[in-house]
Amino acid sequence: MSSAAVKRLLSALTIEEKVRLTHGATDTDGTSTGFVPGVERLDIPNVRLSDGPLGVRTDEPATAFPASIALAASFDADLAREFGAALGREATARTQDVLLGPGLNLVRVPHCGRNFEYFSEDPVVTGQFAAGVVEGIESEDVIATPKHFAANNQETARASVSAEVDERVLRELYLPGFRDAVEAGAGAAMSAYNRVNGTFMSEHEHLLSEVLKDEWGFEGVVMSDWFGTESVVGTANGGLDLQMPGISAEELFESMGMPADEIDPGGFDYADGMPDPRTGGLFREKLADAVEAGDVPASRLDDMVERYLTQLERHGLLGESGGGRADDEGGADRGEGAIDTPEHRELAERIAVRGTVLLENDGVLPLADDADVAVIGPNVDEAILGGGGSSETTPFTDTSPVEGIEARADGDVSVARGIPRIEDVSLFDGFGGDDEAEDEESADASVDDAVAAAEDADAAVVFVRDQATEAADRETLALPGEQDELVDAVAAANDRTVVVLDTSGPVETPWREDVAAVLAGWYPGQAHGDAAASVLYGDSDPGGRLPVTFAPEGEYPANTERRFPGVDGEVHYEEGLLVGYRHFDATDAEPTYPFGHGRSYAEFAYRDAVAVDDATVEVTVENTGERPGREVVQAYVDAPEAPDDLERPPRELAGFAALSLDPGESRRVAVALDERAFGRYDESDGWTVDSGEHVVSVGRSSRDLRLGVSIDR
Ligand code: BGC
Repeated sequence: MSSAAVKRLLSALTIEEKVRLTHGATDTDGTSTGFVPGVERLDIPNVRLSDGPLGVRTDEPATAFPASIALAASFDADLAREFGAALGREATARTQDVLLGPGLNLVRVPHCGRNFEYFSEDPVVTGQFAAGVVEGIESEDVIATPKHFAANNQETARASVSAEVDERVLRELYLPGFRDAVEAGAGAAMSAYNRVNGTFMSEHEHLLSEVLKDEWGFEGVVMSDWFGTESVVGTANGGLDLQMPGISAEELFESMGMPADEIDPGGFDYADGMPDPRTGGLFREKLADAVEAGDVPASRLDDMVERYLTQLERHGLLGESGGGRADDEGGADRGEGAIDTPEHRELAERIAVRGTVLLENDGVLPLADDADVAVIGPNVDEAILGGGGSSETTPFTDTSPVEGIEARADGDVSVARGIPRIEDVSLFDGFGGDDEAEDEESADASVDDAVAAAEDADAAVVFVRDQATEAADRETLALPGEQDELVDAVAAANDRTVVVLDTSGPVETPWREDVAAVLAGWYPGQAHGDAAASVLYGDSDPGGRLPVTFAPEGEYPANTERRFPGVDGEVHYEEGLLVGYRHFDATDAEPTYPFGHGRSYAEFAYRDAVAVDDATVEVTVENTGERPGREVVQAYVDAPEAPDDLERPPRELAGFAALSLDPGESRRVAVALDERAFGRYDESDGWTVDSGEHVVSVGRSSRDLRLGVSIDR
């Protein structure tokens, strides 16, 4: 429902002015990712939009937070809220009004180049983190833009591929996160590049208009992904409200000071990972004519503009005290935001620590303060900030693993790269990533030096990484370069070898039996070194749990070409509901590290589980170990058989709760259960709970279930 003020504006705007509010334009100062000019005579402000999920991306620095998958590994949705609010303050400080995030596509295939920008293979985890980040951003009066709606689960051919997926699977796996983001108050949503069941998402009337807007009650703006529109009439009538960037690629690059004739396309194949940038100006050029010709109803144009103005008003951008953040006048009462504050630096480190998952530990960790440590790895001298693409953020400051460990260690620290640097890959380099380093010092690295350092040390810590970027999928889950060989050599030289995985998602760990401990630190952002040292030395318990299953490459469900990356322009979601741990549980396949897994420096015992009501279980957790620790209690629902042999995954995560306990301390914890884990989506009846016994298992991971209770429904 729009206000009287919005209604007044709507009747005062000319058709030409209305059309101007349905697409982006050239940014007058070239700082942001997107720009929508205002209408000066009616005090409608200029609006600036910026990427993205890991930090605010303008032409100036910002806090580089850990990857979204690291945030999700914390299993702490309050942290997501705190993070979102910090992003909102940084956006305000950079005079941005809209943040292009969170990214929340489900991790369907472990290879997806953007998994680090997403949360999980599970819809409940995804939904809780999406909602938390959205609430945080919006609490600072910045518009959040959950993306990419929907089924953008791979980068290969993302601009054209059709996800062939049935309605039940969409509803149970791929849509819930978006619904949660909408219910958390997102003012915008970004349509995905890909098609779903043959129709481009930018013109998908069923999903944009019927589901997102009519059924879920979304009152915000659906914007396109950049150059992600194909038509005028189909797009407008399908339910898209704002075409971005609204200009041609040439105009966009020129505005960023990069003359079009100097742009090297960098080997982009527009039919593959990148959209065709020639379609940028469709609404600008043709929407008015389409309305005049009656092909797009005038009421649809009004709806687009009304949605846009309603969100501006809701976020304090309209009216007397309004004004876009970048406008000279107005906007003063929204404050100046905050950027690179001690609180934001601390938060970036806390998320990295909380998201670090201890996969294995034979007792080598935590390291003794006075241990002599060899710090090894091709990239030990740099913080791993993220993957390539639109989420890249430039921090004010960062700490590398070497810096973090040197600052913390009381013993001797020796450093050896071992093998040449593994380069970042980025769509901005035309995928020019190269396994081999260019710089001389790096090229001279030798495994022998690493072995010598490891032999002389009490413990060796090897940092390894993968390469991932938007617009391309990982070709393999094996670590790039000679990193596996490096780990083998170091492990042979020192039986107290710890491996830290700084990766976008699951990777192969062929040497895991030969090392003493393995940590997943994901892409930890600017606080890389400090966070790693804090966990390695036991200043913090590694609080993370796996939001994705780690398994050998061939064991994942999307294991045929039809399923991934697809054939003849279609990718068939034939695994249906059996994505991630649902597949491993249904087939008894053995994951390397199961979903939800993560060890602690403490030990935990569970007792006295009860169902308090239909939607809550309570359990007592005791720290029976000798160190303080952080436990994540997980609850999974096993539903009764559905009629007509309809498939149900064996177990579905319904909720989780994190708590910190001192040695000997015990506490009762309540876990709220998501109703959707009990139900299934029926195409005619909608969400349906089958009557009968629902077994709720409570435990430490999808494969370490400690207690069970029954809920009859
Ligand atoms: C990405 C979006 C991003 C947009 C603007 C696209 O390539 O898919 O996630 O927000 O660019 O940078």
